[in-house]
Amino acid sequence: MGNLEGKVAIVTGAARGLGAAYCVALAHEGAAVMATDIRECAETVGDVVAAGGRAIGTTADVANANSAKAIADATLDAYGRIDILVNNAAMYGNLHAGRFHTLDEAEWDACMAVNVKGLWQCCKAVVPTMQQQGGGSIINISSLAAVYGIANALHYATSKGAVIGFTRALARELGRDNIRVNAIAPTMVDTPGTSEIMKENRDRFAEAVKRNQTLRKTLETEDLVGTVLYLASDMSKFVTGQTIMVDGGTVYL
Ligand SMILES: NC(=O)c1ccc[n+]([C@@H]2O[C@H](COP(=O)([O-])OP(=O)(O)OC[C@H]3O[C@@H](n4cnc5c(N)ncnc54)[C@H](O)[C@@H]3O)[C@@H](O)[C@H]2O)c1
Repeated sequence: MGNLEGKVAIVTGAARGLGAAYCVALAHEGAAVMATDIRECAETVGDVVAAGGRAIGTTADVANANSAKAIADATLDAYGRIDILVNNAAMYGNLHAGRFHTLDEAEWDACMAVNVKGLWQCCKAVVPTMQQQGGGSIINISSLAAVYGIANALHYATSKGAVIGFTRALARELGRDNIRVNAIAPTMVDTPGTSEIMKENRDRFAEAVKRNQTLRKTLETEDLVGTVLYLASDMSKFVTGQTIMVDGGTVYL
């Protein structure tokens, strides 16, 4: 029996990349999964079901309150409870990198709306159910970009820094409800999103990232999912407000 048998998990930004991998891993541990994204999640749902897991999908914009509530409602309709929320959706692959003064103002605003406000909308949508159930686990995806201070994506790094403050402050508010709120800050992983934002600089950047690490290999998706499973499960039941660096020892908190 998996660690998450009987639990229900929502993963945002689940159409591809890391979000899709989290869905497969959570379902493998026994969770029933709601895969949601602004894009179609049919492929992710197909992958989970093909591996013998339970998943459904919905298309929604996490930055919008009504749409975030619709995710929670659809999850409750299908599965009757919500135990885990992975706030993974972000403007990342679709951002333009560049020096701070060249960034587009509309893109800056959109980045904050999705990467920061989106967490708030989704938490507001699921927390009442978690409170009624007597607990839950919220996992927010930050980034090494925020903690290290990676250059040339100031909007992105700033938004992921906000994820850490959000996590700490909300953890303080929800501890009384036995709802844990933690963040994960991964280093660079080779995903479609990474290729899109890094373009021709991807391999050079990956080498530079590796040189700064204690462990001398590039992070792969399969090395990251374990931290999500740990924070989702009761194995971490006394852990809240934390940011776990999954960065091969680039920075030590
Ligand atoms: N890949 C990396 O190197 C890396 C490193 C650290 C952190 N992260 C974070 O991990 C997460 C996933 O990254 P990824 O590499 O799979 O990249 P990605 O760009 O493919 O993932 C983001 C997903 O969020 C979705 N999304 C964007 N706006 C949305 C909205 N308004 N509503 C709902 N969904 C929306 C996208 O459609 C996409 O599927 C992101 O939060 C990213 O910031 C990635």
